[in-house]
Amino acid sequence: MMNLVLIGFGLSLLFFSEFISGSEVAQNQSLMSTHPIYKLIRKKIPRVGNAPLDVKFGFYIESLGNFRSNEMAFDVDMYLYMSWTDAAMEHDDEEYVLINDKTVLENMWVPDLYFANARTAYFHDVTVPNFNMFINKDGVIAYGTRVTLTVACNLVLKNYPLDSQTCSIKIISYAHVIPMMNVTWFNEGAVRFNAEIGLPEFKIMSIRPAYCNGTFHYTITENSSRVGEFSCLMGLIELERAIGYHLVQSYLPNAAIVIISWVSFWIDRRAVPARVSLSFTCLLTLSTQGNGLRYALPPVAYSKAIDHWFGVCMLFIFGVLLEFALVNSYMRRANKYNNLAQSMRWSTSHGYHPGETDTDTEDGPLRRHKLGSYVSQPELVYKAMFFNRRALAVDQISRVAFPGGFACFNFMYWYYYLYYSVVTKTIDPES
Ligand SMILES: *[C@@H]1O[C@H](CO)[C@@H](O)[C@H](O)[C@H]1NC(C)=O
Ligand SMILES: *[C@@H]1O[C@H](CO)[C@@H](O)[C@H](O)[C@H]1NC(C)=O
Ligand SMILES: *[C@@H]1O[C@H](CO)[C@@H](O)[C@H](O)[C@H]1NC(C)=O
Ligand SMILES: *[C@@H]1O[C@H](CO)[C@@H](O)[C@H](O)[C@H]1NC(C)=O
Repeated sequence: MMNLVLIGFGLSLLFFSEFISGSEVAQNQSLMSTHPIYKLIRKKIPRVGNAPLDVKFGFYIESLGNFRSNEMAFDVDMYLYMSWTDAAMEHDDEEYVLINDKTVLENMWVPDLYFANARTAYFHDVTVPNFNMFINKDGVIAYGTRVTLTVACNLVLKNYPLDSQTCSIKIISYAHVIPMMNVTWFNEGAVRFNAEIGLPEFKIMSIRPAYCNGTFHYTITENSSRVGEFSCLMGLIELERAIGYHLVQSYLPNAAIVIISWVSFWIDRRAVPARVSLSFTCLLTLSTQGNGLRYALPPVAYSKAIDHWFGVCMLFIFGVLLEFALVNSYMRRANKYNNLAQSMRWSTSHGYHPGETDTDTEDGPLRRHKLGSYVSQPELVYKAMFFNRRALAVDQISRVAFPGGFACFNFMYWYYYLYYSVVTKTIDPES
């Protein structure tokens, strides 16, 4: 018993380490009452005998919002409801006693619950402290107050922006283990929320009560720590990100750029500057759009769904550039053979050697033919045509292959993120 009060009072841990380590001494009631510290204890958990005090808990979420992916936090404004029995508060009045006076509240014991994953929390004091307390004649106390919290929520952004997030609000007793204080959710309507809450980026799927009872270390002294099971309540908020914004801001513009880059396949194969500059413009535009994606997101170590999308779009445009490099190389060969054939025609009529007009040292295959007059002119024309046709074929295949590939990728991408990952995720928590 002594332990319990000591811990409840939350005084200097080292000071009491002596009492805590010698548990037999600590449990001695008579010693307890003689120590001067007990004169200072004014509030005490109203337990009856050795049974834990039952505290019921619930909340109503008034508003929820300001999700900050960067900080992984959000704000919530809510009404807390607690109910417990304090025999000292029994009275004869048939009516409830309503307490709305802060000084009375300050002299009463209230459950020492706190929000474990809240970064900041405050009560409201305008225009008067926002709380009410009803005490019925059996000493059953109903306490309600309004708090605003900034709650940390560990976002898993693997599927961003096609993700759904589960955030929790954890409520734990600061000092009382379960054998002293048993905190449970109200049997009915423990967690409710304002149906009008509208989040810009998320859709609220559910807000439900859950338990996270666990053992926690407490009163850590130099050489020892105690481990106790604490009641832990968890309000689970399940959110699904609304895809609309990202569809309009990222997916559609990126897809449009990829599609525009395919125009290159229909542009004249000889129009080198047009095709190259089109592809490069697309590449640059896409990477500019990519900078916008990174804004407002924490630099996580893993890749997100949007990164995969973006990377593949980039690859497609890069593919267009490579395709043109191939087409261009065929076209250059075709041109060489063509020029050769022309100069041969010219030289046969003027008695001039064809090889001497060619100053391009890059094309290996031509060199062999330079001096050899054994290559006939029709053969050169045929070769020119062959490479020209090849270039055309590459373009023609690309006209189908690129849109086809992109459609395939889209199918797989959306199937994976909208269906497959959702199904596997709903299976996961159960296992
Ligand atoms: C409790 O303390 C009193 C006075 O110090 C002592 O007489 C008594 O034996 C103790 N009882 C137990 C159970 O330790
Ligand atoms: C706590 O309260 C709940 C509900 O009233 C009850 O089911 C549970 O057994 C209690 N736990 C303890 C340790 O008393
Ligand atoms: C947590 O504790 C409460 C009350 O003791 C109990 O009703 C609930 O089933 C427990 N939950 C888990 C997961 O242990
Ligand atoms: C804690 O442990 C260390 C080393 O084991 C020992 O020197 C020290 O006296 C201990 N302190 C207490 C308060 O028992």
